[in-house]
Amino acid sequence: MADTRMIKVLITGGLDSSLLMGMLSNCDLKIEAAPDMTVSAEKLAHFNYDAVVASNLSQGDASALSTLLKRHGEPSLVLVGKGPTPDYAATIRLDEGVTVHDLVTACRFPVHDIDDGRFQGPFDRRGLVGGSEALRRVLVIAEKVAATDSTVLITGESGTGKELIARAIHRNSHRCNAPLVVINCGAIPRELLESELFGHEKGAFTGAHRARPGRFELADGGTIFLDEIGDMSPDLQVKLLRAIQEKCFERVGATHSTHVDIRIISATNKDLTLAVAQNQFREDLYYRLNVIPIIMPPLRERRSDISLLADHFTDKLARRTGMDEKRFSQEAMAIMTAYDWPGNVRELENLVERFSVLVDGSVVEAEDLPPHFLAADSQDDDLPSLYLDVRHGVNFHESMEQHQKKLILQALNEANWVKAKAAELLNMKRTTLVEKIKKMKLEDGSVTTTV
Ligand SMILES: Nc1ncnc2c1ncn2[C@@H]1O[C@H](COP(=O)(O)OP(=O)(O)OP(=O)(O)O)[C@@H](O)[C@H]1O
Ligand SMILES: [Mg+2]
Repeated sequence: MADTRMIKVLITGGLDSSLLMGMLSNCDLKIEAAPDMTVSAEKLAHFNYDAVVASNLSQGDASALSTLLKRHGEPSLVLVGKGPTPDYAATIRLDEGVTVHDLVTACRFPVHDIDDGRFQGPFDRRGLVGGSEALRRVLVIAEKVAATDSTVLITGESGTGKELIARAIHRNSHRCNAPLVVINCGAIPRELLESELFGHEKGAFTGAHRARPGRFELADGGTIFLDEIGDMSPDLQVKLLRAIQEKCFERVGATHSTHVDIRIISATNKDLTLAVAQNQFREDLYYRLNVIPIIMPPLRERRSDISLLADHFTDKLARRTGMDEKRFSQEAMAIMTAYDWPGNVRELENLVERFSVLVDGSVVEAEDLPPHFLAADSQDDDLPSLYLDVRHGVNFHESMEQHQKKLILQALNEANWVKAKAAELLNMKRTTLVEKIKKMKLEDGSVTTTV
C-alpha cells in the first residue's frame, strides 16, 4: 500500500516534461523535472526518489538511466510513450494515451501489474500548468465543452491563459485534425476585419485583385478563435451575429452565401456585460457567444499555481537557452506568491526570463525581485502576509521567524520605533521585544529590505 508521506517523483526524458508535470501537478506527489540525463544524474545523486517517470528515452539514455537507478536507491521506473525498455527490474511500462490515474498508480506502487482497463482518454492540457482548485474547475468545464460543438466565451484578465485554454479545447475536440484559426479582432483595422473574417471577391474594393477566402472559410471543419471580441465594431457585430445564427455569410462583394461548419470560441478581457449596458456590444450577440462561459481566474486567486508556473518557465527557458536552471530561494518565492500579479501568467513568464538574464547565481534571492514586489509585500493589508506553498516543502522554523520579523517591523514602523509602544501593539513585554530585535538584528529602516 502507498504510505502516507509525500511520494517523490522525478520526471525525465524526451517528451515535454511539462505535460507530465501538468498531469501530475494536482496529485499528492512531490514532483521534480530533469530536462536530460546529466541533470537526472545530479538529482538522483542528491535526492531519494520513489519513482522516476521517463518518456521517449533514446537507447543511450535508457541504459544510462538504468545504471543510475541501480546506483541510487532503486526507485521504480515508469516508462511512458515510445522507446526502448531499460534493463531494470522495477520498470513499469504504460501505453501512450496514459491517464493521470495510470501515472499516479504507477508512481505510488512499485509493482508491475498495472490495471489494464483503459480509462477515458485524458484531457490533453499540454503546456497548461497549475494544480489549483480554481484552474481545476476551469479544466473540468473545458473538458466537458471539448466534447461538444457549443460556442464558448472565455473571459478573464490579460495574461491569464485565455488563448491557451481555447487551444486546449480545440485540441481535445473531434475537430482537432482540422484547423484552429485565430483572429485578433482588436488588432486588425475595422475596415479590413470584415474581409479578414469573411473573405472577399475579386474587385470587391480597390486593391482586391483576386478573390480570397476569409478566416471563417479557412476554419471549415475546425474552430475559429475570435480573440479580443469586445473590440469588434458594431456594424461587424451584426454580420457576425448573422453568420452564427444562420451558419452562413457572404464574402465582401459576393452575391451568394457561403456555408461553413465551425465551432466558435471567443475571448475578451473586457467586461462584456458592461459593454452591453453601455450599448457598445450587442446584447443578442453577447448571448449567442456566451453559451458556455469560461472565466479564467487571475493568478492572485490561485496562488498555489505560482511556484509551479515559475518552475515550469525556468525549466522551459533552461531548455531553450541551454543555460542553467534558476531556483528561487524560499523567501523570494514567498514574496512572489504573495504578490498580486496584475499581468498574471504573462508577467510571471517575463519576470522569469528577466531573472535568467540578469541574476548571476543559480538562486534568485528576494533582493533580486523588482522593488515593487518588496514594497507590496511589506504593505499592511488583510491578506496573509506570508503565503507559502507547503506542497513543495517549507522550512517551518525559518518561515515562522520571517513571519515574526515582519510583524515586529510593522509594529515598530507603526510606533515610530518606540519600542514600548510597539510591544504594546504586539501584546508583548518590552523586554521580549528588545531581545527579539537584537536577535533578529533589526534596525530602523530595514522594513524595505526584509520580508
Ligand atoms: N496555466 C498556464 N501554464 C503555462 N503557461 C501559461 C498558463 N497560462 C498562461 N500561460 C502563458 O502565459 C502567456 C499568456 O497566456 P495567453 O496568451 O493564453 O493569455 P491571454 O489570457 O490570452 O492574454 P491576453 O488577454 O493578454 O490576450 C502565454 O505565454 C501562455 O503560454
Ligand atoms: Mg489572448
